[in-house]
Amino acid sequence: MDVNGKHKRSKAMWKHNRITAKLGIEVPIIQAPMAGGHTTPQLIAAVSNSGGLGSLGAGYLSAEQITRTIAAIRELTDRPFAVNLFLPEPYALEESQLRAAHHLLAPARRTLGLTEPRPVTSYAEPFEEQFAAVLEAGVPVFSCTFGTPTPDMMTRLRQAGSVVIGTATSVREAVALEQCGVDLIVGQGSEAGGHRGTFLHRAEDALIGTMALIPQLADACSLPIIAAGGIMDGRGIAAALLLGAEAVQIGTAFLTSLESGTHSAYKQALLKASADQTTLTRAFSGKAARGLQNDFIRTLAPHESVLPPYPVQNALTRDIRQAAAQQNNPHYMSLWAGQGVGLSQHAPAAELMRTWIEQVSALLDK
Ligand SMILES: Cc1cc2nc3c(=O)[nH]c(=O)nc-3n(C[C@H](O)[C@H](O)[C@H](O)COP(=O)(O)O)c2cc1C
Repeated sequence: MDVNGKHKRSKAMWKHNRITAKLGIEVPIIQAPMAGGHTTPQLIAAVSNSGGLGSLGAGYLSAEQITRTIAAIRELTDRPFAVNLFLPEPYALEESQLRAAHHLLAPARRTLGLTEPRPVTSYAEPFEEQFAAVLEAGVPVFSCTFGTPTPDMMTRLRQAGSVVIGTATSVREAVALEQCGVDLIVGQGSEAGGHRGTFLHRAEDALIGTMALIPQLADACSLPIIAAGGIMDGRGIAAALLLGAEAVQIGTAFLTSLESGTHSAYKQALLKASADQTTLTRAFSGKAARGLQNDFIRTLAPHESVLPPYPVQNALTRDIRQAAAQQNNPHYMSLWAGQGVGLSQHAPAAELMRTWIEQVSALLDK
């Protein structure tokens, strides 16, 4: 074997592992699924066409929207991509919680000029219909959060030929996912933007940072681990790989990409934000999530314990979030963001990918 050949082979070592092989991708970088219109077909295709894995956050989409969006993605790429759903969770709702929520949300509605709360006909899209649309489309990768897929779901996903990714925020959750037969596990550290995937603990008890979580998951699981939370560039990617992850899942850093569907006022807020501005809140959805602090979160903070659970609170605040978006008022929008937000860059997704790949190569291909 000649010296140059040997050198070349050792150079791209970080790109070749169990995850890139399983997913059929070139670089172990996954663009996080982000429900709420951020993950456009253009963003997903840009990441997949750059050698990573683009993901559609389909949690809030109807079955018909899922079918249409997957077709649009397939127009733009023939590479693998993922579709992500929120697994449904049982919840108990008391009439008094609904009354309290309407009372607490009234000032926000008045500020935005909304007279009456919009009648809510269902709190979430029917999961079975969403799941059937994903199966019908035969997606390369299915990812999920908020629990473990049921045995029936696993059987149907296997029949559809999809690789299955679950989300854990603790070792106990990762072990539960491994036992139910998923292929890969996202370890979501507490730095992460958006909702906590926690399902076996109170969210407050599973706020384990990425640096502590990933090596413990890598030791406890035989499945490969995908690190998520606070990763914004090549330094974070290289660090996650050194901690024992075999891929990273990046959310916040893609929100300010050119192709993301993120509202322009939200993008501006991210580009100006610093790490000390994020907080965990249940105010918007009833479930703990990390985002930029604003008036809505501050006002509801003392009352979080009386708010209805997810997905009820999420449905109740929808008209507020939509009116805020129409009025370019970031103080009533859910500005989900991770603690790495201060490193956000406004650039095309392919350029972000290219830069990060070069950075990781410079750090690891020594
Ligand atoms: C705006 C936003 C929406 C998100 N929506 C989802 C989602 O629909 N499904 C999911 O599994 N994770 C979702 N997440 C969490 C990401 O998958 C991931 O864990 C997180 O973005 C990683 O942390 P980072 O934002 O610091 O990169 C979301 C994150 C953000 C910022």
